Amino acid sequence: MSVLKGTKVTWLGHATVLVEIPGGLNLLIDPFLEHNPSYPKNFTLPERIDYVLLTHGHMDHIADAAPVAKKHGSTVVGIYELTSYLTGKGVEKTIGMNLGGTVSLPGVDVTMVEAKHSSSMQEGEQILYLGDAAGLVLTIHNGPVLYHAGDTSVFSDMKLIRELYAPEVAMLPMGGHFTMGPREAALAVKYLEPKLILPIHWGTFPPLKGTPEQLAALLPDGKIVAQLKPGESM
Ligand code: NI
Ligand code: MN
Repeated sequence: MSVLKGTKVTWLGHATVLVEIPGGLNLLIDPFLEHNPSYPKNFTLPERIDYVLLTHGHMDHIADAAPVAKKHGSTVVGIYELTSYLTGKGVEKTIGMNLGGTVSLPGVDVTMVEAKHSSSMQEGEQILYLGDAAGLVLTIHNGPVLYHAGDTSVFSDMKLIRELYAPEVAMLPMGGHFTMGPREAALAVKYLEPKLILPIHWGTFPPLKGTPEQLAALLPDGKIVAQLKPGESM
């Protein structure tokens, strides 16, 4: 799709997205592979995963962060408390950051933006706090601006994300129950004004009932909702 200017975006089910920049980095967002019911089981990740980017510390977003980082030698980027936690799990290379900040990687700037959600991990009886939940804006040099909202409700400061970064592609959770559903995601589209919407965080588990068709029906004409199956690219 021309909006993507050659960058390849592959949805791997749930909130897991692979971004391949032509001639540049391979980035894996929120890796939830082995225990993800919608992960395409015959899919092979590229040998080179340069960076693993994390929105927040819930298991359905970080379950495979440490295994992928160890296997592929990836650097893990996330909010400070979360990368510190993963350092304790044996991840060697991390970049801890926080809301409003930008990390410049070769060919892409990664900005951490707000999300309205929680972020924690249960270990035995303990609930560990893992920093705030976040969204990520990927400003690809000579390429598109991508926004992965993480898990979030809709919030009016999404207008700030549009004003500052003007993402052309918005990956929005819309399954409901733990995040926005279609009605809320439609308002998020109004605030963000992306050219292309990739629905994520739907269909994985029974409570996540919202569908891309429901979202598309709520949007004005001309807004394109990508209808990808897990493992398909745009
Ligand atoms: Ni979550
Ligand atoms: Mn989630």
